[in-house]
Amino acid sequence: MEINKIMKYKINNICCIGAGYVGGPTMAVIADKCPNIQIEVVDINKVRIRQWNEDDFEKLPIFEPGLAEIIKRCRGKNLHFSNFVEEKIKKADMVFISVNTPTKKKGLGAGKASDLKWVEACAREVARNAIGHTIVVEKSTLPVRTAEVIKEILNAAQNSSSNESHLCSFDVLSNPEFLAEGTAINDLMYPDRVLIGGENQEAIDSLSEIYSRWVPRNKILETNIWSSELAKLTANAFLAQRISSINSVSALCEATGADVREVARAIGSDNRIGSKFLDSGPGFGGSCFKKDILNLVYLAEYFGLNEVANFWESVVKINSWHQKRISEIIVKKLFGTVANKKLVILGFAFKANTNDTRESAAITICKNLLNEGANLIIHDPKVTASQIENDLNINPIKFLGNENSFLNAKSGIWEYSKYINNLEIFNNAYAIVILTEWDEYRALKWTEIVKRMVPPAWVFDSRSIVNTEEVRDAGLSLWRLGDGFGD
Ligand code: UDX
Ligand code: ADP
Repeated sequence: MEINKIMKYKINNICCIGAGYVGGPTMAVIADKCPNIQIEVVDINKVRIRQWNEDDFEKLPIFEPGLAEIIKRCRGKNLHFSNFVEEKIKKADMVFISVNTPTKKKGLGAGKASDLKWVEACAREVARNAIGHTIVVEKSTLPVRTAEVIKEILNAAQNSSSNESHLCSFDVLSNPEFLAEGTAINDLMYPDRVLIGGENQEAIDSLSEIYSRWVPRNKILETNIWSSELAKLTANAFLAQRISSINSVSALCEATGADVREVARAIGSDNRIGSKFLDSGPGFGGSCFKKDILNLVYLAEYFGLNEVANFWESVVKINSWHQKRISEIIVKKLFGTVANKKLVILGFAFKANTNDTRESAAITICKNLLNEGANLIIHDPKVTASQIENDLNINPIKFLGNENSFLNAKSGIWEYSKYINNLEIFNNAYAIVILTEWDEYRALKWTEIVKRMVPPAWVFDSRSIVNTEEVRDAGLSLWRLGDGFGD
């Protein structure tokens, strides 16, 4: 795009439908970088919008380092959060669709295909309300060829608009988001690339111009719309595949006496492989990886490419197997039973620096341990007790400090603990299981903790964050993922 090129479609007003993990931070950064554009983030969820408008910035619905500062700078100036979906669509030159697209639970494609009912509802909402020319941008990760569905709905509206004042026309662009939670603001400020897929160059130019205010031109990639949609799914599938690969190697390391950290360092020094995304852990979580791979599997099956489908499905299968494997190791090391034993779970978020628990390995591992009858004390610095209750689908029972009265509990029980500093949660525990790599777990005082636990007490470190010497010197048994020399 030439500098100073006259834009056919100048964007003064943006409406983003969906105030979630993607919509909220993305619009905050665009607002921060483009003070002359008015941005309206709308959502049907009243509670969420109220939280975005909270005076207390600690209470924003999403925790992301750097996000609160931007909200402080822009909210009420050129960034607004409301439930006025129709009204804000009417005013917008560009509408971002940033709604959830979870895997379908029933019907055609259940368990694999994305449920597009929210996207379809948005497209219809835009079709009903848009005025003049509107550029509709797919921001949510969507199955390939979703743009076609959106276009069809919008075209129907365009062709039927009889009212002069309601004349409308549309362009559809795909602009997938590559931000990772916990680093969202940094990823948005300094993206590796911005991908814009579309058919109409003038519409592409309008969106490209917005990003070019802070992203170097050579990082803004323009493609056709299907390549853009497929590239997003494939990027997530490749990343997840790396994690499943290294996690499968961790099992081999334990069996052979190798160490997965050393293997990762050795293979990661090869420039062609690279060192990022090679940390063995309790299995990938998050809202995207599993959903996007299953989407890819569905797509491949749809086109009769069964070998392709099987290849990608194995990435998800290994991930589930790996989580089960970790749960079983914990039970085996504790003499084959965790029934009525108190276990401290450190970390419930799917990774550090986020309060998100979607698809977190902690959910599966805790459920497995509860099935075995364990008494879990679960700590996470950002995840709330009610979120954990939702995920485990079991009510918490207060037993901290009162462990003995639950000795004969028939099934596993759990309690949330907000604090770990006073070390009380470690009293009478048989084991500590580290599932999220929060910094505060790196600095635990093992010599103090061991005194409070039941010997032989165990530490299970699925994130390789403890100082192994300190743990062992304190007299604790240590199991580390992929450590063939472990206890
Ligand atoms: C991912 C993609 O990184 C991002 O580009 C896309 O837009 C959305 O999906 P996110 O789910 O936020 O982002 O987190 P990510 O940092 O990718 O981690 C995903 C999971 O993989 C986490 O559970 C994390 O703990 C795990 N992981 C990551 C590992 O186990 N090892 C690693 O080396 C890296
Ligand atoms: P993501 O991680 O993709 O951002 P989230 O679930 O965090 O997903 O956020 C999606 C948001 O979209 C939710 O807050 C939900 O209420 C909102 N949403 C879904 N459908 C609609 C709709 N038709 N109109 C407005 N908001 C919607």
